[in-house]
Amino acid sequence: MNPGIEYNRRLEEIPVYPVASTYAFDGELVKLASNETPYPPHPQVLEAMEAQLRTLNRYPDPDKSLLRKRIAERTGVPAANVTVGNGSCEILLALADAMLEPGAELVYAWPSFSIYPHVAAMSGARPITVPLNDAGEHDLEAMASEVTAATRLVIVCNANNPSATALPPSTIDAWLAELPRHVAVILDEAYVEFSTLQDPDDSLDLLGRHPNLVVLRTFSKVYGLCGLRVGYALGSESFRLAVDRVRQPFSVNALAQVAAVEALGHQDEVERRVERNAIERAHLESALDECGLATTDSQANFSWVLLGDRDEDEVIEGLARQGVIVRAGKALGEEGRMRVTYGTRPENDRFLAALDEVL
Ligand SMILES: Cc1ncc(COP(=O)(O)O)c(C=O)c1O
Repeated sequence: MNPGIEYNRRLEEIPVYPVASTYAFDGELVKLASNETPYPPHPQVLEAMEAQLRTLNRYPDPDKSLLRKRIAERTGVPAANVTVGNGSCEILLALADAMLEPGAELVYAWPSFSIYPHVAAMSGARPITVPLNDAGEHDLEAMASEVTAATRLVIVCNANNPSATALPPSTIDAWLAELPRHVAVILDEAYVEFSTLQDPDDSLDLLGRHPNLVVLRTFSKVYGLCGLRVGYALGSESFRLAVDRVRQPFSVNALAQVAAVEALGHQDEVERRVERNAIERAHLESALDECGLATTDSQANFSWVLLGDRDEDEVIEGLARQGVIVRAGKALGEEGRMRVTYGTRPENDRFLAALDEVL
């Protein structure tokens, strides 16, 4: 850095976002490190984007009106209460400005999604992290016991990234009922469509009972649009207005808006992907089990694999040498693990063959 220039002192507190390591490999890489979907966007989504290309001389709709309307129709939440962001990460990061400040507290489980520490660090609020229980689940009671008069926000990641576990909406409902109403709760449901515990609509019922609740979702996972960056939050109108005030008006680009609108119209494709995910989950986990590697109960599109007495670096690097990229547990807050995203069947089989070689 140029020593003559001064930067915000808070910068030193902000972690660098962990990107997957790159490895030299002479062949096609199998990328199972970022919880992406392995399937390309629906052909009609591509067509909608192509048609939009000719209007890129215009700014995108700052209100995201059509997309908010379609999300409202799909979820039953009024469009006024739908916030759309440049990925759900943008909405999370906006909370640093919109809800937090030095002196405030933010509670979340750990290990959990790597953006949450950024939210605390960017705002200067105090992060309170609560360890997951032995099953890799949120310990909701312990989280509630950390709530004080200074707590502004509690984040529950359901299913949790990286431990893949989820709690049923009824458990979260009962917990919310006991929580003080001055605390906003973000229920981060990036993977909800993959859950076998619930229908995605089940948690939306909680919104009517808990005005302090915000449900966060994304087009990055089951809809397969992470390269475009679109996510959304379902909560109150005041939440949307607060988030809109702290970010630039055109943050969700025109291609992303039309693609998300079109993708919502293809629920048959969503169902197909959810089914495929369940099949690949069962295939991968039974093979891991045969290798003597335990996993947590995955409700997502990835497994959290316990490596036991095997050396984590050796496993991760051994896989990478064979062109298979997974995420190391220690990069995600817990050593002796790896997080593996489900790919296509051939990709998963390459992972299993490479693992067999390493073990
Ligand atoms: C728990 C969780 N929330 C949110 C996101 C980010 O989603 P987006 O691509 O919408 O910013 C991810 C992405 O990995 C995630 O794991």
